[in-house]
Amino acid sequence: MNIVVIGTGYVGLVTGVALAEIGHDVCCVDIDAFKVAQLKKSISPIYEPGIEELIEKNINAGRLTFSTDLKAAVTDSSIVYLAVGTPQKQDGSANLEYIEEAAMNIAQSISQDTVVVVKSTVPVGTNRYLKKFIQNKTPYKISIVSNPEFLREGVAVKDVFHGDRIVLGADDDIALEQLEAVNQGFQIPIFKTGLESAEMIKYASNAFLATKISFINEIANICEKVGGDIREVSAGMGMDHRIGSSFLQAGIGYGGSCFPKDTLALNQIAKNSGYDFKLIQSVIQANKAQQLKLVKVLKSHYNSDLKGKQIALLGVAFKPETDDIREAASEVIIKELLWCGAKISIYDPVAAANMKAVFGEEIHVAETIEEVLYQADAALVVTEWDEIKKIKLEEFSSQMKHPLVLDGRLVFDKDQMKKAGISYYSIGTGELQLNEPVYI
Ligand code: UGA
Repeated sequence: MNIVVIGTGYVGLVTGVALAEIGHDVCCVDIDAFKVAQLKKSISPIYEPGIEELIEKNINAGRLTFSTDLKAAVTDSSIVYLAVGTPQKQDGSANLEYIEEAAMNIAQSISQDTVVVVKSTVPVGTNRYLKKFIQNKTPYKISIVSNPEFLREGVAVKDVFHGDRIVLGADDDIALEQLEAVNQGFQIPIFKTGLESAEMIKYASNAFLATKISFINEIANICEKVGGDIREVSAGMGMDHRIGSSFLQAGIGYGGSCFPKDTLALNQIAKNSGYDFKLIQSVIQANKAQQLKLVKVLKSHYNSDLKGKQIALLGVAFKPETDDIREAASEVIIKELLWCGAKISIYDPVAAANMKAVFGEEIHVAETIEEVLYQADAALVVTEWDEIKKIKLEEFSSQMKHPLVLDGRLVFDKDQMKKAGISYYSIGTGELQLNEPVYI
C-alpha cells in the first residue's frame, strides 16, 4: 500500500520506516530540506539504535523515500499519517499550530478520498476537530483515525515491532478496516475504539506510568527515613502481577519529551473541563522535587557551601540510549549547581554536545569518564548508561579529590562502595554513608 508520513521526527520517522519494513511503499515528508537530504543518505536526525540500518535497508529495497514535496507525495496515496510535534504551551496545554498547518497542507494537496492517521499526541477532541477542519477545505471525503504512539526512545525500533497493542480510534468502520489491514504485518494485537477513547488512552497511559514512577520515588524517600531498600521494595511489589514490575525503578524522576509534557497537558485537559485532577498535580510536583534530590543531599553534605566545588555529572541524557536532554533532570541539576557557584563537568557518550549547546562555557564537557572524575568533589550518577554502570570503583578513589558518589539511578552496590572507601548515597537506600571526613 502507498503511504505518506508527514513529519520525520522521532515518531514519524520510526513509523515510516517500520511501515516500509512490513512491506508498504512509504514516502516520509518533511519541510526541513536538510533533514530530508540527510535521510536520503540514511543519516538519521535522531540518535536511535538500529534506525539507520533499517532506513538504508528499506531505501535499497525501493520501499522508502523521503521528500519535501507533500503535494507530489500524496498523489498516489489515500493514507496519510500525521506525525508532527505538539509542543507544550506556557499553560501546559498542547500547541496545535504545527498539526493545523500540516492538516491545511493535506487539504490543499490531496486529489482523492483520504484517510488521515493521527500519530501525534493531541488533546481529547482534536481528531474530531481536525476531521471537520480538513473536510471543510476539500471536496474529497476525509476519514480520521487516531493511532497513538507507545514507543520508547532508545528502544523504539524494538518497540515498534513488539508493542503490546496498536490502538486505532475512529468513528468510521471503513477507515478502521483499512488501517487494520495496514497494520496487519506488525502481528501485534489491534484494539479498535472511538476517537476520544484513543486520544485518552495515550494520555492516561503516559500519566499512569509517570504516576508509578513518582509513587515509587515517594516510597524511596520514605524508606530513607524509616529504613528499607527501595530496590528490594520495588522487586517485592513487582512480583504481584496486578502491580507489575516495570516503571517501578526509583531514581531522580522522569524526564524526556513525553511524560512531563503529557502529564501537564492531561492536567490542563481536566482543568478545561472543570475537573480538578489532584492526583496528577501531585505526581508532577513530586517529580519536580525528585529531580533536585541529589543536589539536596550534596548541599547537606557540604553544609550548603558548593562554591568552587568541582561536580562531575555522569550522564546527562534523560535516559540511556538517547541523546535527548529534553526535560532531563540533568538540566535542572546543572542550573541549580551553577547558581550555587559549583563548577560543572559532564560526561555522556552521546548527549554531552546537546547539553553544551544549552550551557556553553558555563560547563566543561569531558571526553572520558576518567576526565570527568578527575579532581571532582562529588560525582552524580544521572543516567544509567552501561559504561557508567561498569565504572571500576577504584576509578572514583584514584581520580576524585573527594570520592563521594551520589547515585540517582541506583546502579552501584552500597556494600562494595563502602569496602572501596567511597562515600556513597543512593536514592531510597538510606542515609549518605561517609567513609572519610567531610572537607569543606
Ligand atoms: C514514554 C512511554 O514509555 C512510551 O510508551 C511513549 O510512547 C512515549 O513516552 C511517548 O509518549 O512518546 P519515553 O519518554 O521514550 O517513553 O521514555 P521512558 O522509557 O518511558 O522513560 C521516561 C522517563 O521515566 C525517563 O526519564 C526514565 O529514566 C524514567 N523512568 C522510567 C524512571 O525513572 N523509572 C522507571 O522505572 C522507568
